[in-house]
Amino acid sequence: MDKAKVPVEQRAALALLLDDHRAVKKLFKQFQDAKDDADKESIAEETCLQLTIHAQIEEEIFYPALRGVSDKLDDILDEAKVEHGVAKDLIAEIESGEKDMLEARYTVLSEYVGHHVEEEENELFPAVIKAKVDLREVAQQLESRKSELLGEQAAAAQPS
Ligand SMILES: [Fe+2]
Ligand SMILES: [Fe+2]
Repeated sequence: MDKAKVPVEQRAALALLLDDHRAVKKLFKQFQDAKDDADKESIAEETCLQLTIHAQIEEEIFYPALRGVSDKLDDILDEAKVEHGVAKDLIAEIESGEKDMLEARYTVLSEYVGHHVEEEENELFPAVIKAKVDLREVAQQLESRKSELLGEQAAAAQPS
């Protein structure tokens, strides 16, 4: 999806989410290219962190802003909610699971999230643009919630 072609009412919000998607896809690629286990573990950790925050801002702010706009959107949102649930289970397994299963779990996560991201970009976002939902305020909320969550994460990671 080309950000420049998104109408201004939806542009900032969708651009933020598209950038998140791209950042995660880059991590998937880095994991594939990584040679040693320590690198894989730290890439996996970063992926889980980014995905968790992304899913959280979508669930807290983006999806609720789209609820009730149309039956079609509601159906897509229901599916997205289920997909987030599955992704979260995989993330929890990666974060706490045995190291020898990391490769397998991460591969499934990246395929699964890849599919979810395609659905958002190819179905959800076009439907949002078509319905002319004004997301300018939502964009600001997404932005500030994201920095808040990133800040909390950084604080939690600091050694005491
Ligand atoms: Fe999502
Ligand atoms: Fe997303």
